[in-house]
Amino acid sequence: MDFDISTYLRERKAWVDDALAGIFEGLSRPRPLFDAMSYSLTAGGKRIRPALMMAAYEIFREDGRDIIGFACAMEMVHTYSLIHDDLPAMDDDDLRRGKPTCHKVFGDAMAILAGDGLLTEAFSLITNTDKTGNWPAEVRLGVVHELATAAGAAGMVGGQAMDILSEHREVDLDTVRFIHTHKTAALIRASVRIGAMLTGADSEDLSRLSRYGEAIGIAFQIVDDILDVEGSTDTLGKAAGADGKLEKATYPAVAGLTRAKEKAQAYITSARETLQPFGSRAESLQQIADLILKRNN
Ligand code: IPE
Ligand code: IPE
Ligand code: MG
Ligand code: MG
Ligand code: MG
Repeated sequence: MDFDISTYLRERKAWVDDALAGIFEGLSRPRPLFDAMSYSLTAGGKRIRPALMMAAYEIFREDGRDIIGFACAMEMVHTYSLIHDDLPAMDDDDLRRGKPTCHKVFGDAMAILAGDGLLTEAFSLITNTDKTGNWPAEVRLGVVHELATAAGAAGMVGGQAMDILSEHREVDLDTVRFIHTHKTAALIRASVRIGAMLTGADSEDLSRLSRYGEAIGIAFQIVDDILDVEGSTDTLGKAAGADGKLEKATYPAVAGLTRAKEKAQAYITSARETLQPFGSRAESLQQIADLILKRNN
């Protein structure tokens, strides 16, 4: 049977959506906090990081659902990053995933706390053996370290800081690259790595997947920057043209749209080459790389 990536992703998105819907079961007080957390978590979203984690796992094992708890934790960290990214003190956006942003509905304070809650609950989840399954303690510890490092000041948070510090300033491509590798590629790379780590993959395979994750992660952000220029608010589910208003240090702003498109393509080509040794076992990761380039939201 022919492999169809749209079906593959739709299926995994449904697994993740289902699992996330009940993630705060038994937790309800204070109501506005949990409402804000659930609102953003279930507002939609492509669930590309969970899909990448499961696809990397499936190079070595049968069923990505084994690691659904870890995949949900990654999506919780990502959603926290979006809630904070949209705050007035950061990108000041009113629309996300086709809906009013968290702070627009629940206020700045509750949005900040919803982000804090999602980040911390993610680590509670991946250290909870009842909820994520019986993984060896040293593997779980490796995953905690991976996620914390990718999300923290040496990863996503550092990239977000550089992004903010670079607004309204002339920056070089090296700075744009720093922003992209940190704010976006760090979590994408960690998603792929964690999927493989949970199978006990060896260091050679892990380093291949790291290179793949880093390359598609940078391409993902270059395309995000391009879509801000060429996309529409309707299709994106977030305001188009937002980067221009804030004079963000984006790839098209620094190098032009043509160069940005070439560069995104080059990263995808190199990501795909990295997967060669896995052969057909990495078919889903190969096709996700292509989709990252072709996506319109
Ligand atoms: C948006 O990420 C933020 C970036 C890193 C560019 P996604 O494009 O994955 O957003 P959702 O999760 O689908 O809403
Ligand atoms: C944000 O980058 C990346 C994060 C870590 C959240 P952007 O600011 O470009 O993301 P969007 O365009 O608002 O989704
Ligand atoms: Mg931003
Ligand atoms: Mg933003
Ligand atoms: Mg953007």
